Amino acid sequence: MCGIIGYIGRGNAAAVGLAALKKLEYRGYDSAGIAVLNTRGIEIRKDKGKIDAINRKLNMNSMQGNIAILHTRWATHGPPTKRNAHPHLDCRGEIAIVHNGIIENYSSIKELLEKEGHTFSSETDSEVLAHLIEKFYRGNLEEAVLKALQEVEGTYGMAVMHKNENKIVAARNGSPLIIGIGNNEMLIASDATAILEHTKKAVYLNDKEVAVVKQGGFSVKNLSNESIDKEVKEITWSLEQIEKKGFKHFMLKEIFEQPESMKNTIRGRIKDRIKITVDIDMEKIKRIVITSCGTSWHSALIGKHIIERTAGIPVEVDYASEFRYRDPIIGEGDLLIAISQSGETADTLAAIKEAKKRGARTLGIINVVGSTIAREVDTGIYLHAGPEIGVASTKAFTSQILALTLFALYTRQEMGMQINKNILNELKNIPEKAKMILDKKDEIKTIAKEFFKSSNFLYLGRGINFPVALEGALKLKEISYIHAEGYPAAEMKHGPIALIDENMPVVFIATKNGAYEKIISNMQEVKARGGKIIVVATEGDERACSIADYVIHVPETMELLSPVVNVIPLQLLAYYIADMKGLDVDKPRNLAKSVTVE
Ligand code: M6R
Repeated sequence: MCGIIGYIGRGNAAAVGLAALKKLEYRGYDSAGIAVLNTRGIEIRKDKGKIDAINRKLNMNSMQGNIAILHTRWATHGPPTKRNAHPHLDCRGEIAIVHNGIIENYSSIKELLEKEGHTFSSETDSEVLAHLIEKFYRGNLEEAVLKALQEVEGTYGMAVMHKNENKIVAARNGSPLIIGIGNNEMLIASDATAILEHTKKAVYLNDKEVAVVKQGGFSVKNLSNESIDKEVKEITWSLEQIEKKGFKHFMLKEIFEQPESMKNTIRGRIKDRIKITVDIDMEKIKRIVITSCGTSWHSALIGKHIIERTAGIPVEVDYASEFRYRDPIIGEGDLLIAISQSGETADTLAAIKEAKKRGARTLGIINVVGSTIAREVDTGIYLHAGPEIGVASTKAFTSQILALTLFALYTRQEMGMQINKNILNELKNIPEKAKMILDKKDEIKTIAKEFFKSSNFLYLGRGINFPVALEGALKLKEISYIHAEGYPAAEMKHGPIALIDENMPVVFIATKNGAYEKIISNMQEVKARGGKIIVVATEGDERACSIADYVIHVPETMELLSPVVNVIPLQLLAYYIADMKGLDVDKPRNLAKSVTVE
């Protein structure tokens, strides 16, 4: 949430900074702004809206200077308005700050500062940081920031500059921040994708660290003013991976990348044995709890089926936001698996910390290498799905299911049980099957044309495909703003059946798996009430076709792997519906790609 950029170097800070900020727009896009330091002092331009529109209006990229901080906002405190947009200034206009996170004790600090004569221009929690730093400033910005942060409770990823100092001071607690080391230039960013154009060398700040960044280098201290040596890491993603490559939207590109991202998730991990490096003695694990949010929570629900059936270990699934606040029963002998594409989701991170505190081992299933969660867990499995830029998660979901499958098979192997060769072979076939579905995009587009004006959708599935129904519904609602609900098909008759009439499209996931016969009966129940049925059915299945109004065929696969193929048509259906409605698919209203606040 919220994107932060800092630039100090020989180039034009505004032009470089804005190009980098555009790459972070998926983190928040309700307002944006820039502060440039030049001979006249600090100059600020900011407004509500998206970066391009603000730039057209305010000509931000014509600002001159070699040091800048920039921000794209996802509102928490105060609505998206010009005055709430970042950067924020102190009273004298000498200190500018951009901030991501939430300052929890901001109202008490603000009250105190107001009594001391500070006047505030916004409703944000972030502005107090500028005034607090002003209060402590005695000619050294780093010292003032260190003092100010002693007073602050909450989370921050922040970048600050002072009109008299050729440096940017950056600090992190709970909101990601990296320093990019370029050629005679340094960058600060909320995530690695923004700096790739300039450098692949990065330093990841840890919580409660403060960095001073100058054109020629950087230094890092902890909040107790002690110097810290930081390792310079190589970013593994390439610039090419974060480009649209001719696709209209990142989401569409990422849907179509799935055959490749799936291959990358399983590459080198399926030999005679499952080769994943999981530093946990699985024989000692008696129970698994999987925690995550949103789409990653749906893959967790699928993971429960896969692990229980493959390894016979009981699995519970919990929303990270619920787990962390309900005094969870977890401890020694338990394994907490945290699933996260971004590796930055605040609730998931907090759940991991809670589980660790109580003595559980932790394992992350993460896409972003070097992310906060990846560094917090005891051990992990990277997805290697490549950068996911579209706010709606697609390729990460299918890779998460494959990673969970590998983990389940690995656990079985470690427990001394045989692994059925069929599943290993089928795992290798899955990318090709995904491609076969993508080749049917025009059929799915035709269905989208029929339904893009609908106001409600119901998605129904059973067993391991119930979470696929949830995921299909989430995809549709988040990018098309159409109300959609996912339900276990058999539950329909306990309530939602009242919603069925000729205006209600009902999407069934009815591939030839365990509950096939039952779901065919559920389809009959909807048909009898006039509902419009769209079915995801196994290639060659005539029965499902004879009941449904619209059919999307998918290739046959094993039940455990069926969610990976069944979700793809639902991703495409949601995409085409949203696109036909003329919506900004990659930046749906109110959403941000990584949710770094509670
Ligand atoms: O990065 P994470 O996987 O931890 O993100 C979790 C959710 O915020 C995320 O899946 C969200 O629900 C997506 N917008 C779904 O498309």
